Amino acid sequence: MTPEEFRAAGHRLIDWIADYRTRVADLPVMAQTAPGEVKALLPAEPPLAPEPFAGILGDLDKIVVPGLSHWQHPSFFGYFPSNGLLASVLGDFASTGLGVLGLSWQSSPALTEIEEVVTDWMRKMTGLSDAWSGVIHDTASTCTLVALMCARERVTNYSLSRGGLQAEKQPLVVYASAHSHSSVDKAALLAGFGRRNVRVVAHDSNYGMRAAALEEAIQRDLAAGLLPCAVVATTGTTTSTALDPVEDLARVANRHGIWLHVDAAMAGSAMIVPECRWMWQGIESADSLVLNPHKWLGVAFDCSLYYVRDPEHLIRVMSTHPSYLQSSADAQVKNLRDWGLPLGRRFRALKLWFMIREQGVTALQNRLRRDLENAQWFAGQVRNTPGWSVLAPVPLQTICIRQQPQGLEGEALDKHTLGWVDRVNRSGAAYLTPAILDGQWMVRVSIGAILTEREHVEALWKLIRREAETERGASI
Ligand SMILES: Cc1ncc(COP(=O)(O)O)c(C=O)c1O
Repeated sequence: MTPEEFRAAGHRLIDWIADYRTRVADLPVMAQTAPGEVKALLPAEPPLAPEPFAGILGDLDKIVVPGLSHWQHPSFFGYFPSNGLLASVLGDFASTGLGVLGLSWQSSPALTEIEEVVTDWMRKMTGLSDAWSGVIHDTASTCTLVALMCARERVTNYSLSRGGLQAEKQPLVVYASAHSHSSVDKAALLAGFGRRNVRVVAHDSNYGMRAAALEEAIQRDLAAGLLPCAVVATTGTTTSTALDPVEDLARVANRHGIWLHVDAAMAGSAMIVPECRWMWQGIESADSLVLNPHKWLGVAFDCSLYYVRDPEHLIRVMSTHPSYLQSSADAQVKNLRDWGLPLGRRFRALKLWFMIREQGVTALQNRLRRDLENAQWFAGQVRNTPGWSVLAPVPLQTICIRQQPQGLEGEALDKHTLGWVDRVNRSGAAYLTPAILDGQWMVRVSIGAILTEREHVEALWKLIRREAETERGASI
């Protein structure tokens, strides 16, 4: 493809994306696809001869779109909002079109320096002090893995330069709660702590980790000769957006010299709204934190921000200095390969930069406030309807709900809940994800897609009640 051919095909593709975003509300939200259906439409062998671009583009409509659940749909209420504002989509294109890699500052100076500036913009937008330094990674899973590796190396005084974890006399312990994201457990296992040394700290009735229970767990481990290493607190858990009490947990962690990592992957976006910042009060006493602009805020996936208070420590843990990557500028610049796992880095800062500039902070704040209000409206409707309940506090945009018809309990209640949510999803009119809370299935309503207005939330509430009644009727 020559640049001129690219220009023509690119214009068609941009038109196609603009059309898709215009008509996305008319599509069924959840893919109506059976397993294997998409594969069956594709040839098993790659084409030997070139194919015309028009045919490739045509298959987006014929094969790809019907095989997708549509995250940008205004009635997408599943998982969490993963918004791709169109300005950030263009930033992503620009990054790919430039085709540059950030192996070192010298390999693409603007890649590094724009990343430094936009992570600092985000620091200010979320009300963090200038004690924090940020870097962009792909996902929160990576950031939490990096955090636990840094915690491990701090408490062992850089065991990696000796025999590593394998030579440590005392097993190291990580603390999290049953409501921490699965990526925390995964990071702890991959960072070498071992299943036996990952503690699940008790939570309170609002699903926040109990600081007193953390203290007790640490004391037990100390008495058993183990070495407490890190605690991961969550601001906005995945199931219910519960808030661990960061300030109280920081007090315990700091008293014991334990690393505190805060997973604000979902709720971090909300911190651009000053009235939400109480939710991570105490954050200035943490060692590291992650927030995902690729969720609610609106940066096209993937873009995860990792902030640390001690970049020297991060660099000491992560750095490599092969001769072929060294340059005369090294003493004056940041080489972001030393701030995380991969050597090659995409120019992810562009899509964040494009989005913040095209939107302005005020518009971003207003959209999030709209979603917070919609969540409160929805929670109020559920609370005021007999037979329905809101099961957890609603500090953000996720509402955990259940209908409990008289006489239904245990497995029968689960069957009812999963039955009506399946009806909602199969209708194509909205998409919801159920989850287990306190051992019983419930349904999460996660509000915050870019196009979701009050009318969509009202329509959802009507649809939910109708499908729940139909399910009830069908099972009597
Ligand atoms: C609280 C929390 N932490 C971590 C993650 C994982 O995010 P990522 O996909 O960026 O690894 C999620 C995603 O759902 C989340 O809600």
